Amino acid sequence: MGISLKTDVSFQRCINPRCGKEFGITDGHVRCPECSSLLDVVYDWDRLPVPGSLKDFEAKWSRRNDPLAFSGVWRFHELLPFAAPEYVVTIGEGQTLMRNSARASKYVGIDEGNLYLQYEGMNPSGSFKDNGMTAAFTHANIVGARRAACASTGNTSASLAVFCSAHGSMKAIIFVGSGKIAYGKLAQALDHGALTVQIAGDFDDAMTAVQEVSRRLGIYLVNSVNGFRLEGQKTIMYRVLEGLNWEVPDWIVVPGGNLGNSSAFGKAFIELKELGLIDRMPRLAVINAAGANTLYQLYEERQLRWHDGYGDDELVDQFFDDMTERNARASTIASAIEINRPVNLPKCLRALDACSGVVREATDQQILDAKAMVGAGGLGCEPASGASVAGAKILRDQGIIAPSDRVVCVLTGHQLKDPTVTVAYHSGDRDLFNEVLVQRGVKRAQHANRPVQAANDLNEIIKAIELNV
Ligand code: F0G
Repeated sequence: MGISLKTDVSFQRCINPRCGKEFGITDGHVRCPECSSLLDVVYDWDRLPVPGSLKDFEAKWSRRNDPLAFSGVWRFHELLPFAAPEYVVTIGEGQTLMRNSARASKYVGIDEGNLYLQYEGMNPSGSFKDNGMTAAFTHANIVGARRAACASTGNTSASLAVFCSAHGSMKAIIFVGSGKIAYGKLAQALDHGALTVQIAGDFDDAMTAVQEVSRRLGIYLVNSVNGFRLEGQKTIMYRVLEGLNWEVPDWIVVPGGNLGNSSAFGKAFIELKELGLIDRMPRLAVINAAGANTLYQLYEERQLRWHDGYGDDELVDQFFDDMTERNARASTIASAIEINRPVNLPKCLRALDACSGVVREATDQQILDAKAMVGAGGLGCEPASGASVAGAKILRDQGIIAPSDRVVCVLTGHQLKDPTVTVAYHSGDRDLFNEVLVQRGVKRAQHANRPVQAANDLNEIIKAIELNV
């Protein structure tokens, strides 16, 4: 597959079927200028050299000193062919792994060997965001942007900061809700030199502000409202398939915040099916935190559906108007998904439609217990990622996932992103537990691994070890 990828065979299209306006790849609109709907990146596949089988991608494995073959995103370039290779900006993202976890399988109630954890915390900035950022950065490179902005609960901003510091072509401007991001993530933004604007509000406020400010100042926006981000995030699913020897699993379970991942995963599978590269679709489960459960409420309680893009916009408008009236705010210990107004809602509905999707909500207690079981099983994740395993357990308990199903839970971010929550859960420090967890409704830490105390005395230390191991 040593082909040249042209940009005249890819373009952008408004996802609203009543509008459907098309724009070139070099067009910098983030939303449709006609109707404000989201834009899709689309391809004229008939004129592109798509491989005949997913197995053909294995040829790239032997070319690891070519950065485009090394990257876990760009080794699938033929499935996101919007940029010519010379424009691609890569920092070695997507070298992630999928691993079976006996501990998590048992916890969820799935037959051993059938629960897989797709560990996106292994990315250079420690979260799945790098998959999308390399694609958005590549597009920014095509349009010649010099400044890039995002609103963030921390991981998008960390990823943007890492890309900007590694590549040097753009300056990062990040909007965060004051006190709303975990320290590991704030540390990254500061360390990598991003201009960090702490807004006296939450993520939803920051998201509203960044869209308007970027528009006014002509700054390139890298939130997942940007369709190019989603093109990169499709590759998480390609790697899942790669890890399963190109077989489609029964379930993909993913946390839902701004709904970029779920939207991207749905698009990936829709395209693969259309291209004849897979023979069936997996089911998709999107897991909200109970304190930030807009998708759950709309999809499961009010039955909002995609309906080929003709869904009930009025229902959605009413829902958000009501939220504004009540000044309802998202609240969860999983700060990464503490989001009430997900920008990708329509695209996520499309994904749920294509993948016979379900949505569940997990409490902070369920999220942290699941996170502890992931940790005990050998992979560390941040609270939001624990939501996928918590959600798989809920669906298993409800009999929707069967014990014999092959289930892939996506671990979206690394454990060290949010050490405060992990230490509060495990340490047994009552004050810390109360301060960090109790106000969120977390009452117990039943899977806690408590440190033991010992006097500074060898006999006492030996006694402490022998009593416990
Ligand atoms: N998990 C983690 C660790 C995240 O950082 C996010 C989103 C999600 C899940 C939700 O993913 O938005 O695709 O549904 N974090 C964004 C941020 C909002 O600003 O870093 P989604």
